[in-house]
Amino acid sequence: MMAVDRMTSKLIPWASPHYWGNEERYVLDAFRSSWISGGAYVERLEADFAGYCGSRNVVSASNGTTALHMAYLALGIGRGDEVIVPGFAFMAAANVAIHVGAIPVFSEVDSETWGMTAADVEKCITPRTKAIVPVHTYGNVCEMDEIMELAKRRQLHVIEDAAEAIGSRYKGKMAGTMAEIGIYSFHATKTITTGEGGAAVSESDELSARMRLYRSHGMSTKRYWHEVAGHNFRLPNMQAAIGCAQLEMVDRITAERARVYASYKSKLVDVDGIRLQKFSDQVDPVVWAIALEIDLKAFPQGRDALVSSMKESGIETRPGFYSASTMPHLYGEQSLPRSDQLSRCVISLPSSPTLTEEEIEQVCQVLVRSRK
Ligand SMILES: Cc1ncc(COP(=O)(O)O)c(C=O)c1O
Repeated sequence: MMAVDRMTSKLIPWASPHYWGNEERYVLDAFRSSWISGGAYVERLEADFAGYCGSRNVVSASNGTTALHMAYLALGIGRGDEVIVPGFAFMAAANVAIHVGAIPVFSEVDSETWGMTAADVEKCITPRTKAIVPVHTYGNVCEMDEIMELAKRRQLHVIEDAAEAIGSRYKGKMAGTMAEIGIYSFHATKTITTGEGGAAVSESDELSARMRLYRSHGMSTKRYWHEVAGHNFRLPNMQAAIGCAQLEMVDRITAERARVYASYKSKLVDVDGIRLQKFSDQVDPVVWAIALEIDLKAFPQGRDALVSSMKESGIETRPGFYSASTMPHLYGEQSLPRSDQLSRCVISLPSSPTLTEEEIEQVCQVLVRSRK
């Protein structure tokens, strides 16, 4: 194992965007074309991403959160509706629900996969429930067959939040393509990036048209004629240019992510006091963030102290998400013991697809030595 030299080693970042090929050339091309708002790269990104996902329609957006917002608006989710979201996840789906006047209702998550399950979602259904939003956390994919079956039986909409799961598959199907609408984020840390950006996919031409309508001021054919109160959720051409170049290299990016995950797994899977996020046999993940749950008996200093001490050793990690119950000022009182446990004990490690074997070794060495 490599010795960690605190004085000389530079910080290993939790994530860092990487340019794989044509990014600079395409951005310059977009810039010089003077099409710096909309433009040909936006259309190309939508077509290329549709090809990649095998989806009929792709509606790009300024980020993953606005992609969610378009999806909610297109499905008519609004005042007084309840939207079931996970208690442990990045909270965009809950926050967008609030923005459209709906009420986020928090489901528990599975303590091993960290995704919502149909059984837990069912407990949250009331006569006011309008939609379920499974979030595919860290690149895992929720049990979509069961969730879709439940939604069909109870006549509910489903939006997959695949922001963190670009390229992951469930029973061979792309994350984000199994529900009425799926959304993705192209944020700088994500598997494919445009800096800021996102997209929604749907097999429904009607829903896609409505998302496009809301994306651009509610105007369709007649300029300055607003059919609905739309927004400006559009992705700029220069951002899309970055995405086109990234998509050209998506197989390489996902292969590198698989290499990084396999390397971490081989080093950490049998370490006492550490439990890696579990992926079921039905999931073929592109792991976006390599995350694990620590056992507080092995790490009595706690997760937050571990994050700090690893930073002092030159390694940037991230804590797991705050569970919904820890933010009563925003989401009200909740009882979510499984989400709370993950909220206290999950940590994610540097996960860039460009990490070297030596860097992974260094991260694992510091983590393992942090046990008391
Ligand atoms: C699960 C999830 N949903 C939605 C989003 C929102 O995406 P964006 O940051 O592109 O708005 C994120 C982003 O971090 C996310 O992780």
